[in-house]
Amino acid sequence: MLSKIKNFLIKNELPACLKNDEGLQRILCTVPGMLDTQNVPLMLQAIQEMPEKGAVLEIGSFCGQSLIVLCYLLRKEKQTRKVFACDAWLYEGWLDKNSHVDASYLNTLAGFPEIQRNDYTDFLYDSFKRNLNFFFPNDLPGSYRELSLSFLNYWTEGKELIDCFDNKNNLGGEIAFAFIDGGHAYDLCKQELELLVPHFITGSKILLDDSAKGQNFGSARLAQEIKSDARFSIISAKGNLLFEYR
Ligand SMILES: C[S@@+](CC[C@H](N)C(=O)[O-])C[C@H]1O[C@@H](n2cnc3c(N)ncnc32)[C@H](O)[C@@H]1O
Repeated sequence: MLSKIKNFLIKNELPACLKNDEGLQRILCTVPGMLDTQNVPLMLQAIQEMPEKGAVLEIGSFCGQSLIVLCYLLRKEKQTRKVFACDAWLYEGWLDKNSHVDASYLNTLAGFPEIQRNDYTDFLYDSFKRNLNFFFPNDLPGSYRELSLSFLNYWTEGKELIDCFDNKNNLGGEIAFAFIDGGHAYDLCKQELELLVPHFITGSKILLDDSAKGQNFGSARLAQEIKSDARFSIISAKGNLLFEYR
């Protein structure tokens, strides 16, 4: 038990350079989210070492915690990049796929039979917009309520698209850093990566959430394949996989 607690604390420990960062602490305790703190130093490394040109992209934003951290670290590192994000704001009941549940459960929020799932996902979407508008009102990332594969196809098409803040953006172009934290299924992550590849340039960084060895996610399975994919070099594989395009 003690070693379990120790492992948890180590995993969630920030490196010294970030531990005393009050802005970062303020984001993490204010904006709801699922950001694994072990991703923070990896994000910082990716930002410090990414190519000199190209956009930063996040797949899977939830209420904006990781995206606000990304924008914060970019500003801290004096990197003025275009930042984009996409999330379909889907409901994912953790038990849905495994349990034989009744129809009303499938329409409502777990534990709250009086709350419809659509209302819950709209609440998350509103929370995302409010959080981004609070922390980065003058520098809002291009943010889209889209399935990741649709969004990435729009990126490939170079589509001009109005985002959830009513800003018009031209999608497309090089991607210097992608943080992948949407649906964690193997096929989905693999398709996302393949749609991203044509937009990478030498040195582009990719951080794949929940990809540490032994994790029970499709993203972890994909990470094992990426390790022997000649197109990529591994930068860090101690926890989640940070890798770069050769
Ligand atoms: C683990 S959460 C992201 C957590 C977030 N990065 C944070 O820091 O809190 C995964 C998110 O991915 C979104 N998602 C799941 N499948 C998706 C898909 N196929 N396309 C776009 N978004 C998806 C969900 O709506 C959810 O908000």
